[in-house]
Amino acid sequence: MQTIIEPFRIKSVEPLRKTTPGERAAFLEKAGYNLFLIDADNILIDLLTDSGTSAMSTEQWAAMMRGDESYAGSRSYFRLKTAVEDLTAFRHVIPTHQGRAAERILFTCLCKPGDVVPNNTHFDTTRANVEFTGAKALDLPLAESADTQSQGPFKGGMDVDALERLIAEHGRERIPLIMLTVTNNSGGGQPVSMANIEAVSAVARRHQIPFYLDCCRFAENAWFIREREPGYQNWSPKRIARRMFSFADGCTFSAKKDAFANIGGLLCTNDPALAQQEKNLLILTEGFPTYGGLAGRDLEAIAIGLEEILDPDYLEYRIASTRYLGRHIADHGVPIVEPPGGHAIYIDAGRFLPHIPKHEFPAQSLAVELYRHAGIRSVEIGSVMFGEHARNELLRLAIPRRVYTQSHIDYVVEAILEIEARKSELRGYVITEQPEFLRHFSCRFRPL
Ligand code: F0G
Repeated sequence: MQTIIEPFRIKSVEPLRKTTPGERAAFLEKAGYNLFLIDADNILIDLLTDSGTSAMSTEQWAAMMRGDESYAGSRSYFRLKTAVEDLTAFRHVIPTHQGRAAERILFTCLCKPGDVVPNNTHFDTTRANVEFTGAKALDLPLAESADTQSQGPFKGGMDVDALERLIAEHGRERIPLIMLTVTNNSGGGQPVSMANIEAVSAVARRHQIPFYLDCCRFAENAWFIREREPGYQNWSPKRIARRMFSFADGCTFSAKKDAFANIGGLLCTNDPALAQQEKNLLILTEGFPTYGGLAGRDLEAIAIGLEEILDPDYLEYRIASTRYLGRHIADHGVPIVEPPGGHAIYIDAGRFLPHIPKHEFPAQSLAVELYRHAGIRSVEIGSVMFGEHARNELLRLAIPRRVYTQSHIDYVVEAILEIEARKSELRGYVITEQPEFLRHFSCRFRPL
C-alpha cells in the first residue's frame, strides 16, 4: 500500500467554531492586527505553533493518573530521568516548566557581558535569553540556506568554517558554549545532518568549549537523517537520536514539541559542577530539582511522549503530512522554504508579495489575510519577530502533532491558493505600539 495514514484513531474530539469574515475583521481590528491577541475560540484552524498543542495519547492520559505529586523524590521524576538517560545518556537531568526556563538557567550560569554564543540559528526566546545576560547571540547558518528555493537535504546546519573563524576572532574564553538547534526552527524547520552535528562537536571539543543541542524537535531531525543521510536507512529513529546526543555535552529541550506534552522542558548536562549551580537557580525560580516547576503528572506525560515520538510509523506520517501541505501550495506557485521542513511550512512572503517592502512586513500582511479569509492562524517569522536580524520574511504554518486531519489541511491549501489569486490587493502594515523585548507577542499594527 502507498497511502501513508495517520497511525492513530480519534477517541476524544473538540468542536471547532466557525466565524464570519465580518466577525473576523472586527476581531482583527480589536487585536491591533496581532494574531497572538485573538481569542483562540475565534480561530478555526490554529497553526500558530506546534508547541504545547499536541494531542496526547491514551497512554499519556493514563500515566497522568499515576503521577506522583510528592514535593521531593517523586516516583514520576525517576521515571522521566530513566527515559531521558536511556535516550540521551546525559548524566544530569533537570526538569523545567518549559524550554526557555532551561535556556535562562543555562545562560545565567554560563554567560556574561562581552561573551558570544554561536548557534546555527537562535530561536527568538533563545536569542532573548542569551542577550538578557549581556552576551551576544550570533547565528552561523549555512550559506545555502539563504536561498529559500534551493533543495539541499540538510539546509539547517551550521557553517563550521564560520565557527572556526569566530573562535579565532574572539578567543575561546569569550565563547561559553556553542549551540546547535535541531531542527532549525527559525531557519525554515530544516534538519541538521549527523555529519554537521559531528563536525560542530569536533570543533567544540578541540577548543574545549561546551557543546549543547537545542533539541526541541530531535525526533523529526532523526527521521530526516534516516531518510536523507547515507548510511542511516536501516537505523531506528531512537538509535539515530542517541548518536545525535552522544556528540553533545548537554541540551535544552522543550517537551512541548517532540514529547507530545502540553507543558514541560529539560536541562541536561554532563558537568556535575554546572548541574549543581543550575539546580541552585532552579530552586530559586522553578522548584525543587525533582519537579522543576511541573506537576508529577506532567513528568509522566513527558516520559511516555519521549518513547511515542520515536515510533517510525508516527514519524513517517508526520514528515509526509507536513510535506503534503508544502507540495500542494508550492506546486501551485506559492513560494515556500524548500524543501518542506519537519514541523511547519514556511511561505516566503517576501517573494510571494514583492510589492510589500520588508519594513512594511509582508509576512504579517499574509498572516492577517489568511485569518480574515479563512479563520486560519499562522505566525510571522521575519522582521516583526527578529527586527534587523531577519534573513527572510517568512510566514510559518506550524502543524500541531496528531491534531488535524488531511481535510483540515486541504482547507488550508484551498484558502492559501484563493489568496494567491488576488495577492496584489494585499497591503503592508506599520507598528503603532511595541514592548522592549520579544515585540511580536504584543505589538499592535495599523494597515497602510
Ligand atoms: N528552542 C526552539 C528551537 C523553539 O522552537 C522553542 C519554542 C524554544 C526553544 C523555547 O521553548 O516555548 O518551551 O519555552 N518554540 C515555540 C514555537 C514557541 O512556536 O516555535 P518553550
